[in-house]
Amino acid sequence: MTAEDVVRRGRLSGERDARIAAFLSSMTADRTIAGADVLVDIAHTLMLLKQGIIVREAGRPLLGALLALYWEGVPDEAFDDRFEDIHAGIESMLISAIGEGAGGRLHTARSRNDEVATCIRIALRDAVLVQTASLITLRGVLLDVAQHSMEAIMPGFTHMQHAQPTTLAHHLLAYEAAFARDTARMTGAYGRVNRSPLGAAAFAGTTYPIDARSTAVHLGFSSTLGNTMDAVAGRDVVLEVLAHLAVMMTSVSRLCEDLILWSSRFIGFVRLADAYCSTSSIMPQKRNPDTVEIMRAKAGSVIGACSAAMVITKGLPMSYNRDLQEITPHLWRAISDARESTDLLAGVLETAVFDLDRMRLEAGQGSSTATDLADHLVQNAGLPFRTAHSIVGRAVAKGGLDPATLHAATIEITGNPPGAKGMSDSEVAMALDTERSVAMRSCVGGPAPVAVRATINEERACLEGDAAWAAHERGRIDQAIAGLIRDAEEMVKG
Ligand code: ARG
Repeated sequence: MTAEDVVRRGRLSGERDARIAAFLSSMTADRTIAGADVLVDIAHTLMLLKQGIIVREAGRPLLGALLALYWEGVPDEAFDDRFEDIHAGIESMLISAIGEGAGGRLHTARSRNDEVATCIRIALRDAVLVQTASLITLRGVLLDVAQHSMEAIMPGFTHMQHAQPTTLAHHLLAYEAAFARDTARMTGAYGRVNRSPLGAAAFAGTTYPIDARSTAVHLGFSSTLGNTMDAVAGRDVVLEVLAHLAVMMTSVSRLCEDLILWSSRFIGFVRLADAYCSTSSIMPQKRNPDTVEIMRAKAGSVIGACSAAMVITKGLPMSYNRDLQEITPHLWRAISDARESTDLLAGVLETAVFDLDRMRLEAGQGSSTATDLADHLVQNAGLPFRTAHSIVGRAVAKGGLDPATLHAATIEITGNPPGAKGMSDSEVAMALDTERSVAMRSCVGGPAPVAVRATINEERACLEGDAAWAAHERGRIDQAIAGLIRDAEEMVKG
């Protein structure tokens, strides 16, 4: 016997055209929450039984059928468009399998509104934990590569022009710092996501003597939400995670952009592993960085998902409106795009081969240590920085940073020759030395190896803290769910 749509049959007439059913259906996106829905059904039924809201003769077979779904998975038929969504699909299948006397009691004291909100939060908190783990791996790789490239001098750029020498470690640590903040944003959002809407029913709660705290605890939530209308209608936590993912992807995309530029022949700082490259169907010599290009584009998709979700939400009156269903496909797509990107980016970086000689050679180009020379004039000749800046700038404009040109530039800028001890060849060479330039920049967070070593140590400690939090939270949830299943099985056995 094929199950009928039990939600629709009482109020609405006639068979629905397949196009209308497909248009209304959330089944594709609901595949992401089907597992969560079974857990929610189990927790809710167990609570109904414990509270005496449904009797054992009805509740036990219902719980038994739900446990079978938990162990065997939700059958494909439950995802048929005629049910509109997986909540109606599962309920309809249960009624058809065990009869309405038992299956028809599942939806007592709840609505699909609190049900879907609960499922979204369960799937979302899992996604946040998985994204956190992926960020932790990526940061670990960045720290490892940085550890090995503290002495790898390279040019730093502003406006994409040679600016001042830095190191590869320092450059990569800039991204690691951003990904550490992304991790903190994930863990912050997690606390707001992991609260239970179950029991809010349509939006006004219920008159049955439910125990919303027990379902929250059984499902691993930290607490219940404080307002039943907010519980079903609020999607700000979804928007928050999307916004955090969008922000994270801007950093992913910038790192990809650096890698794309660096792997071009013009720059030649890095060679990405073959596995992450593609070639051309016509130009046999080509080795294109397609993986990081797709990643750069994924940032656009995630930002688009974030804006779509915000625009869908912003005009909705309280409380539940069906428009909310249209958000989740954007959410799940953004989550998988983001996670795949950070997962793969770790591999890209782990296998990248940097041309350290080429980087070092380029580090001294474009008068990249001119600032050091100006600083030297301030510190040794007592000049105001602006005067020193003008002298060195004029010497660069005249074509060289050598003692004679600096002498002439000093006269042009100040009207006087440099003091008695004008600069010698060796003094100028010393001030312009790239190695020295980097080594002197030992301020907190600077590129000098001594400063970079300290940063790496701090970041590793932070990373370990984040990893411990994620493992603890994962364990806590797994334990709660295992407890739920155990309690449900005991209830069925009696
Ligand atoms: N598929 C729906 C969603 O994602 C579930 C809630 C349906 N509620 C309703 N009142 N029609 O939002």
